[in-house]
Amino acid sequence: MPQRYLVTAALPYANGPFHIGHIAGAYIPADIYVRWLRLCGEDVVFVCGSDENGAAITIQAKRENTSPKAIVDKYHEQLKTGAEQLGISFDIYHRTSDPLHHQTAQEFFKVLYNNGAFIEKESEQLYDEKFQQFLADRYVKGTCPNCGYEAAYGDQCEKCGSTLSPNDLINPVSTLSNETPILRTTKHWYLRLGNYEQWVGQWIEDQQTVERWKAHVYGSCQSWLKQGLDDRAMTRDLDWGVPVPLPNAEGKVLYVWLDAPIGYISATKALFEERGTPDLWRKYWQDQDTKLVHFIGKDNIVFHCIIFPIMLHAHGNYVLPTNVPANQFLNLDGEKLSTSRNYAVWLLDYLRDFPEQQDVLRYTLTSNMPEKKDSDFSWEDLQTKNNSELVSILGNLVNRIMVLLHKNFGGTIPEVFPEPRTIIEEAAFELRQYQRNLHYNVDQFLQQYEFRAGLQEVMNLARAANKFLTDTEPWKLIKTNPDQAGAVLTIGVEVMAYLAVYIEPFLPFTAEKMRKMLHLSDDDVAAVKTNKFVAEVGRELAPAELLFHKIEDSTIAPFVADLRHIRAILQTAEQTVTDNTSNSQ
Ligand code: MF3
Ligand code: ZN
Repeated sequence: MPQRYLVTAALPYANGPFHIGHIAGAYIPADIYVRWLRLCGEDVVFVCGSDENGAAITIQAKRENTSPKAIVDKYHEQLKTGAEQLGISFDIYHRTSDPLHHQTAQEFFKVLYNNGAFIEKESEQLYDEKFQQFLADRYVKGTCPNCGYEAAYGDQCEKCGSTLSPNDLINPVSTLSNETPILRTTKHWYLRLGNYEQWVGQWIEDQQTVERWKAHVYGSCQSWLKQGLDDRAMTRDLDWGVPVPLPNAEGKVLYVWLDAPIGYISATKALFEERGTPDLWRKYWQDQDTKLVHFIGKDNIVFHCIIFPIMLHAHGNYVLPTNVPANQFLNLDGEKLSTSRNYAVWLLDYLRDFPEQQDVLRYTLTSNMPEKKDSDFSWEDLQTKNNSELVSILGNLVNRIMVLLHKNFGGTIPEVFPEPRTIIEEAAFELRQYQRNLHYNVDQFLQQYEFRAGLQEVMNLARAANKFLTDTEPWKLIKTNPDQAGAVLTIGVEVMAYLAVYIEPFLPFTAEKMRKMLHLSDDDVAAVKTNKFVAEVGRELAPAELLFHKIEDSTIAPFVADLRHIRAILQTAEQTVTDNTSNSQ
């Protein structure tokens, strides 16, 4: 019986397009994982969608001088297209402005409300008199009480990473009017997190015996729990979002972090509606045999490991996540990516500038994935990974085998007499071992969310195959012992079939090309998976196609220069800030 999985990737805010930090953080690892599960024949559903509510959207609308609706429509499209073109194989890419989501989130809220999960409280909140608006989250900036950073947001300090609420800020300023806000009373519904503190702590401990969580994820949960969980407002005074489904809640919407994770549920519902089996979503969310896995970046840990599980538990009747394999951050040339300062590599730009080279980006970001600690992207590194790994190892291997077969054997698997075949099989002993163990080894790594190591494992088979070619020198054997040359190339084709199958979760576009070159049928793929594939005599191969192309220095030079330029501007700006601060002291 296949294991049932529900895999989610964080719903990106529809206030901007994807950059490589998002991609390396959540979407590539989720996609590799899902493709691997499918390859293993598991029952898996992979959902995502745009996060279209909350202050992040309304603020962007103001910045672009347009409506929130126009913002989400624009960026939803860009996010969706970007993911699709990179081969992220969502079963559905939904959106939280969809009526189905509004309805799902409201029902969920009402159940929590009826279960007594909330407490209604009046309190004084920051209010902008000029704009006649409460200043939730990012509508207010000020000095961080923890580290003194002067441009901290009302929900978070980007310098020290601490989570804040607007009232914590020293010298708050409205981002709408740039004026000092006043305090005004308002009513909100708070999730009584404290009531669930013990439960969630125990639940996290219990989970470790099912599947040990990553050390940094577990550590981050522990530090949240140590601080203690306070009541947390789950509604906002905003005119954009999911309306609070209660009487006397005029002008109030659900807090975006309440509704967004419910978006995973709405997306699953929408998927099964699309498939004509509208009730089947329940099996994935309510049958306890489901493994629910959330792929996210580290800034989302508390919401997925503490708050959402508490919501699911307080609601009742839902499965809870088995694991939350959050990644750390990807830096760019050693500096933090910054969307607002345009210090980023944008996915759609990459896809435009490097057409048909999706797998080069996937490969680079996977080899450098910030799995356990922050990691770094640079164009030079992409170039090196492409030239000395993809071109030289995988591309070169495939090219040598295909070209030799076409040149000397008319592009078909030649007949080889048993004796030369045996001699060559002996030379291939080590290679065959790698090949046989590949499935098991990749599985071991991917079960532990070690995508870098999983990819290396597949590449090591290509390395071993190159060594085999170098040892046996079929290009020389062609003249001296064509039978043995034929045996070498037949083994080469067999290795290629394994590579085509096992590289697929990582490099799906490359895998497709390899499958085509070998005319691999679904039966062939199944045979590879059971270690039974043989390249039978007479099998015809398609023409050789180059899998990768060398990237020249001159190609990446402008991209390197661009980043350097932005960095210089940012450094000057920061210098000015520091100078001003020191002048004023
Ligand atoms: N939009 C959030 C972000 O980009 C992630 C939301 S994840 C979900 O950080 F669980 F809420 F969906
Ligand atoms: Zn701070």
